[in-house]
Amino acid sequence: MNYEELLNKAKDASKNSYSPYSKFAVGACVLSESGEIYTGCNFENSSFGMTICAERNAIGSMINNGERKIKAVAIYSPNQKNCVPCGACRQVIHEFSENDNVVDIILESDSGIRVLKLSELLPESFSL
Ligand code: THU
Repeated sequence: MNYEELLNKAKDASKNSYSPYSKFAVGACVLSESGEIYTGCNFENSSFGMTICAERNAIGSMINNGERKIKAVAIYSPNQKNCVPCGACRQVIHEFSENDNVVDIILESDSGIRVLKLSELLPESFSL
């Protein structure tokens, strides 16, 4: 699966977003080490702090399937081009990357697909 296809899967996932409070829909698509893909959307709660981001929802699905390593994550929002993962999601992606330099973050920018390394978004990352 190429990066354009991953971004399209993230776009499809954003259609399931439950975001009545922010009205900001997000979809994510994780490509795992095995080549499987896992999608997720954000889902909110009237107790706002319980909101789950699309990226963490997709990663939960990967974990649930017994996988532990992420190769790439595509993120799409119909509300915002270039929708980057929030700080909490960057740390969660880092947890499941063998080496954060190899995780590609795929976004839709005005000039087409943009690919960043997680290490650009989360330099000097914390690990135990
Ligand atoms: N959101 C995500 O799903 N992923 C991010 O990385 C940024 C924020 C969601 C959370 C909330 O439902 C909405 O976007 C507005 O913050």
